[in-house]
Amino acid sequence: MSAESKSFYLTTPIYYVNDAPHIGHAYTTVAGDVLTRWHRQRGESVWYLTGTDEHGQKVLNTATANGSSPQEWCDRLVETAWKPTWASLNIAYDDFIRTTEPRHMERVQRFLSGLKDQGHIYSGKYEGPYCIGCEEFKLPGDLLPEGLCPIHSTPCEILSEENWFFRLSAFVPQLLQHYKDHPEACQPASARNEVVAFLEGGVQDLSISRSSFDWGIPVPWDTNQVIYVWFDALLNYATAVGLGDALGSVGGKDFAQTWPADVHLVGKDILRFHAVIWPAMLMAAELPLPKKVFAHGWLLVGGEKMSKSKLTGIAPADITDHFGVDAFRYYFLRAIPFGSDGSFSWEDMGARYTSELANDFGNLASRLIAMIEKYCEGVIPAVAGNATLEAALAATLSAADSAILNLDFQSGINAIMDFCKRVNGFVTEKEPWVLAKDPNNKAELDAVLYNTAEAIRALAVLLHPVMPATTETLWNSLGADRTLGSIADQRIGNVAKWGTLPSGSKVTKGAVLFPRLEEKVD
Ligand code: MSP
Repeated sequence: MSAESKSFYLTTPIYYVNDAPHIGHAYTTVAGDVLTRWHRQRGESVWYLTGTDEHGQKVLNTATANGSSPQEWCDRLVETAWKPTWASLNIAYDDFIRTTEPRHMERVQRFLSGLKDQGHIYSGKYEGPYCIGCEEFKLPGDLLPEGLCPIHSTPCEILSEENWFFRLSAFVPQLLQHYKDHPEACQPASARNEVVAFLEGGVQDLSISRSSFDWGIPVPWDTNQVIYVWFDALLNYATAVGLGDALGSVGGKDFAQTWPADVHLVGKDILRFHAVIWPAMLMAAELPLPKKVFAHGWLLVGGEKMSKSKLTGIAPADITDHFGVDAFRYYFLRAIPFGSDGSFSWEDMGARYTSELANDFGNLASRLIAMIEKYCEGVIPAVAGNATLEAALAATLSAADSAILNLDFQSGINAIMDFCKRVNGFVTEKEPWVLAKDPNNKAELDAVLYNTAEAIRALAVLLHPVMPATTETLWNSLGADRTLGSIADQRIGNVAKWGTLPSGSKVTKGAVLFPRLEEKVD
């Protein structure tokens, strides 16, 4: 981390390591990656955190059922499943936190002791239902008939324990005021309404320790208890950047540069933890609150939340083996409004792959390269202007930038793909293959090809956060890496400057960006 301005700090939830990642987890992590890459290309300092949630009964039970100690189990899954999946999806995180790391555990204990010293913690008895799948204390009114968890459809345990409690209820008025003053702090509006209604309905104090098992961070003053896994996990966002460290220390400087988080990305099932419990914990410690919690919807299979426990989990590799990594990254953000649920279907993904990626984008690029090779000896012709395309690009840039900054990935990508369609229309209308038949048209032919190449240069930069590998291939085949530097260094703010792509560089026919699907089927 550099020591200048505050970084744009974005987090994903930390994932339970009871199993390997499925496409629901990948959905959040890819969204975070696209958003942070976009901010980096805007020239901002960025910090992107992801990681794993390793304590609690769920992970312990899974490890035990697999004949492993919980620590060995977590180590194995993190190294063989979680980190490799993020690498395979081209996730450029800056830090990966594991809740079993000393840096986290020590800071959590110190934070909790601080809350106790301030009078926010007391001992009491917890009696009630608990869902191990959610790792959540439930109210009887939350449950389906026969005491089933509405998310997992499995029976809840009935707990009766002496625990430590956090005075959550004391923060309700302050939380309501916070969302009134800062509606942007919980998005989309439907999520905020749910949180406000929940707060208005009355909130009980929260049990923040467990005594019936020991896989967790010990309560510092009562080591017969471990800290409740959610209390432990939520703190990762702050422990990873130096929570509570002395001001002049490395951790203290990191904290000053990153905190508060700009965006916590979460699925809607874990909204209340992030929009009620987490800000209350920070209020109790008198720390600044995150600027935004954004709750996205679920990927559904057969109308239900896709999940491994219901045997509907799809591994990212099942899709990327067939469609490629960049199509995976593109598809979910393009097809589903961020904040709404969306059904995954192979047919829809196949249709969009072919029409939007292979035809509209991939073909445009390969036709352009082929025509420059054929009509211009493979060299980008002289810089030329086109007022219509230039205006369309400027409008695309501002629409895409504001949509993506608002986490409306679908509108942002649509704006960019509409520009791609317009460039296809330009080529169809100008018919360079007809112009090429008469040498008197050479200047016009060159201008058409330059303008098309220039539009593709802009498309590559704008789509780079979404599809980093494919756009880099395209960038290099335009010869732009040699004249303009690497694609990741291109600034979003400069994208609409017409005439950026220099003439004279040699194009090369690269690999087909989006191969026809039938060629990939066994
Ligand atoms: N460990 C907690 C989070 C702690 S954050 C301080 C947890 N982990 S989880 O692995 O169960 O889920 C992590 C995220 O994956 C959640 O945001 C959840 O919404 C998301 N998803 C799990 N299944 C999903 C879908 N089918 N679709 C979209 N997202 C889904 O909760």
